[in-house]
Amino acid sequence: MSGIFVSFEGIDGAGKSTHIAGLATAFQAQGRVVTLTREPGGTPLAEQLRTLVLNDAMDAMTEALLVFAARRDHLVQVIRPALQRGEVVLCDRFTDATFAYQGGGRGFDWNLLSTLEQWVQGGETFLQPDLTIWFDLPPSVAAARLASARVPDKFEAQPLAFFEKVAAGYGRRFAADTSRFARVNADQTTGQVWLDVQSAVRLKGLLP
Ligand code: TMP
Repeated sequence: MSGIFVSFEGIDGAGKSTHIAGLATAFQAQGRVVTLTREPGGTPLAEQLRTLVLNDAMDAMTEALLVFAARRDHLVQVIRPALQRGEVVLCDRFTDATFAYQGGGRGFDWNLLSTLEQWVQGGETFLQPDLTIWFDLPPSVAAARLASARVPDKFEAQPLAFFEKVAAGYGRRFAADTSRFARVNADQTTGQVWLDVQSAVRLKGLLP
């Protein structure tokens, strides 16, 4: 069996978590071994970098370098080995988040991010997710959801205008690679979003 790599994206408050857990169960029901992971994070080193990125003030380049450093460790230690074992890797955020948050939100150089992406995901083969599910939600709706949520981290505390730029960043990544992406309207009931998520995975031939 060959490995399957799925990433999940969207602005803060888009509601990815329930559906990631649901898909893990669906793949396990097919007899697949599932590695559930997240970015930034997924290894002890990358989790330490996550704490810094989510809590400390830093310029956009530092932020981009730290998330790519975390990603490199995660790829080497966890993602590539799991895929080589034929497992299903479900990753809560991946490189599209860097383009959306550091590129779109923070206005960091898009081309430089592309160079870092090539370095970090390169090697014998360039690795991208087989499928990226983008939970697309209007930033104003996400803001209303976040207002009633837990204590915000550095990104969650950003104003609406920041998330509008992040959403535009996701839109730009989507437009550049529509075959990898499934865009799901996240402004629906959880049940309807779940149906759309399952259809996206089936359409890719990843689940029966
Ligand atoms: P999470 O809370 O959904 O796990 O995401 C962590 C936060 O980090 C979220 O606000 C998005 C942000 N982030 C970046 O800014 N750049 C990245 O490359 C990644 C993966 C996440």
